Amino acid sequence: MTGGASAPLGIGLVGCGGFAEFVLDAVAGLPGLRLAAVADPARERAERLGARHGVPTLASLDELLARDDVAAVLIATPPATHAAMATAALRAGRHVFCEKPLATTTEDALAVAREAERAGRVLVVDHVLRYNPLLRAVRRLTERGLLAPPRRFLFENDASDEDLGPGHWFWDPAHSGGIFVEHGVHFFDAARTLIGSDPVSVRATAVARPGGGAVDMVSADVLHPGGALASYLHSFTHAHRAERQLMRLDHGFAESRISGWIPVRAEISAWTDEADALRWERLVTERPELLAVDGFRPHGEERITVHVERDAGSAEPAHGRGEGRTVPHHARVVIDLGGEARKEYVYSQSVRAAMADLVRAVREGTPPVADAASGLSAVAVAVAATRAGDTGREQAVEYEERSA
Ligand SMILES: NC(=O)c1ccc[n+]([C@@H]2O[C@H](COP(=O)([O-])OP(=O)(O)OC[C@H]3O[C@@H](n4cnc5c(N)ncnc54)[C@H](O)[C@@H]3O)[C@@H](O)[C@H]2O)c1
Repeated sequence: MTGGASAPLGIGLVGCGGFAEFVLDAVAGLPGLRLAAVADPARERAERLGARHGVPTLASLDELLARDDVAAVLIATPPATHAAMATAALRAGRHVFCEKPLATTTEDALAVAREAERAGRVLVVDHVLRYNPLLRAVRRLTERGLLAPPRRFLFENDASDEDLGPGHWFWDPAHSGGIFVEHGVHFFDAARTLIGSDPVSVRATAVARPGGGAVDMVSADVLHPGGALASYLHSFTHAHRAERQLMRLDHGFAESRISGWIPVRAEISAWTDEADALRWERLVTERPELLAVDGFRPHGEERITVHVERDAGSAEPAHGRGEGRTVPHHARVVIDLGGEARKEYVYSQSVRAAMADLVRAVREGTPPVADAASGLSAVAVAVAATRAGDTGREQAVEYEERSA
């Protein structure tokens, strides 16, 4: 393959559909990256994207892998094809940027993770929430001890099916893996990083459209070690204009409410003592560090506001789950990336940051944030949730091959 240590990483795209177009626009001009070629058996799609970015147009992954200038492969085909493509690319010595989900079965996800390890190549899964500044900020506040680790994670997703016609691959589990696998992985992965553990078991419900149609509403309760409980509801039943999402984290004496499936605004309410009240107030001046994500370019209008009501409660110790704390003050914190109006911007910058992570990991030889292990864990939870929904029975999450 061409290119020395400082040459840009040549990347080839396989799958020239709707999201590929978004990704290529998001990563255009990223330092250290060069688009080498695009491939899709649907010729007119490949030609349209190839012409837009001024690169050659091919018909298949094999043709991409035959090129010297392709050191990494961006996989943006439907989910059931991801594992075989990632494996082929890794075996051919290429790094991989894989759209979520990493695979549609745990066995396949595990095989890809092992292949990445064996090949010594970088694999990034496009779990965009990992590169979202708000979720990074919440994690940093947890690491600093201002927020306790969540004991409860809740995600309500009133999602749109407006662009998902009845023949779309999304509705066919053989192609998509089903809603938990196709979409749920984003949030299983987000919870994994915010709670800080891999879940152990799942209960779930799947609801089909009236009249025996496809499953379009699913919910799951996912238990993490130590008793943290994460609940998810995905309902692909809305018009775009009626989409609503809320992530709620219960930190005990504090709560975070984060809106948008691409998080764009967080409201934190926290009972606190004087020392922490001062630390909350200082956040206003710490905005750049708190929201920093490598490769994500802020638009400059992000805001943090902090209002502390001193002595809003009694000075006596307050108790929850047996823990007593003297927290008379009430802090209300808003971290705003610009609300819904900035969703597309935040989404595209998160994709850019994920790709920047691939470039950095290849250069520095250190693991990416959304690595193969995060892809595997999210798929394992999604598969267990799907099985729990299908059977009506609680399922253990299995990270290894399922025993017969
Ligand atoms: N990370 C995110 O936030 C995000 C958002 C949307 C979609 N996605 C993911 O992106 C992927 C693509 O979704 P989409 O909405 O663009 O789908 P799409 O149907 O619009 O595009 C898929 C493309 O893949 C091509 N394709 C199918 N099989 C192929 C093969 N064997 N070789 C080469 N090309 C092949 C199709 O011709 C089509 O052009 C999915 O995995 C989806 O889950 C991720």
